Amino acid sequence: MKPTVAPFPAARLRRTRVSPAIRGLVRENTLTTDDLIWPVFVRDGEGIEEPVSSMPGVVRRSVDKIAEAALEAQALGIPAICLFPYTDAALKTEDCAEAWNPDNLCNRAIRAIKAVAPDIAVMTDVALDPYNINGHDGYVVDGEILNDETVEALVKMTLAQAEAGADIIGPSDMMDGRIGAMRSALEAAGHRNVAILSYSAKYASGYYGPFRDAVGASGALQGDKKTYQMDPGNTDEALRLIERDLQEGADMVMVKPGIAYLDICNRVKSTFGTPTFAYQVSGEYAMIQAAAQNGWIDGEKVMLESLLAFKRAGCDGILSYFAPQTARILNG
Ligand code: PBG
Repeated sequence: MKPTVAPFPAARLRRTRVSPAIRGLVRENTLTTDDLIWPVFVRDGEGIEEPVSSMPGVVRRSVDKIAEAALEAQALGIPAICLFPYTDAALKTEDCAEAWNPDNLCNRAIRAIKAVAPDIAVMTDVALDPYNINGHDGYVVDGEILNDETVEALVKMTLAQAEAGADIIGPSDMMDGRIGAMRSALEAAGHRNVAILSYSAKYASGYYGPFRDAVGASGALQGDKKTYQMDPGNTDEALRLIERDLQEGADMVMVKPGIAYLDICNRVKSTFGTPTFAYQVSGEYAMIQAAAQNGWIDGEKVMLESLLAFKRAGCDGILSYFAPQTARILNG
């Protein structure tokens, strides 16, 4: 439907912008703390908060500090935390067995959060890259990323995370058939209420650079991820991936990266009407922080504007490293 506009001066569209009160009344989209998922990096040790140099303001936390972060999230009204482990190089192997170790960093962090803040939803990342000697999300044999063998490993990883208490499983690997395999394994193991938020439309992007530093995967990675992550030129393919993941049992879907892919967010939401999330990734965070630190932009303003843009595009929520900073502002 096309909006009707009377001729000037019957219509002066500035009338609804004249004061904060009226602007508030007519605002179509708002950002709330309910929209935020906070990604955090976990490392071993105790009492550690170690800065990530490529992401100013972001730290890697030891498990005890992750529990404190969960309490902070709770106090700020942030509903969910997403865990990313920085795995010791010595634990990275060809078979990635650390990925489904019940006592690996991620699973210990899940339990630590659940012990202090059981109402915080804990989301995980399912992909082999933190545990893989060559930095890829799947098994590599003779330069090829193997699909089906990787899916078997991802299912074991999923079950270990669900066992540890994860509420939301986040497969970020982009293998085919993984959602269906995870869903049936979860059902068979009695984890009926564990949700899957699929990284369905994940692009092979330059915006992940700082993240790979944060989890210690940049050194290991050979080549690129273009045989499994999407080509940035494609849109229809994103819709096919989303539809496929929904049919296999995903509860929620994600588009990643964020700001450069708002057209995809919008198309996904308007096509499927399904819970839709975007990931404002590490490179997006780093760009805003870098410009703000140089005094070139107002960092807070751009942060809030970028997050609101996701809501306007149709997203129900956003994974963002800005979550605590944003919540503090939204809470006044
Ligand atoms: C890996 C994974 C990546 C991110 C989340 N999970 C990086 C990649 O695919 O190389 C990126 C997150 C970010 O950049 O903030 N499975």
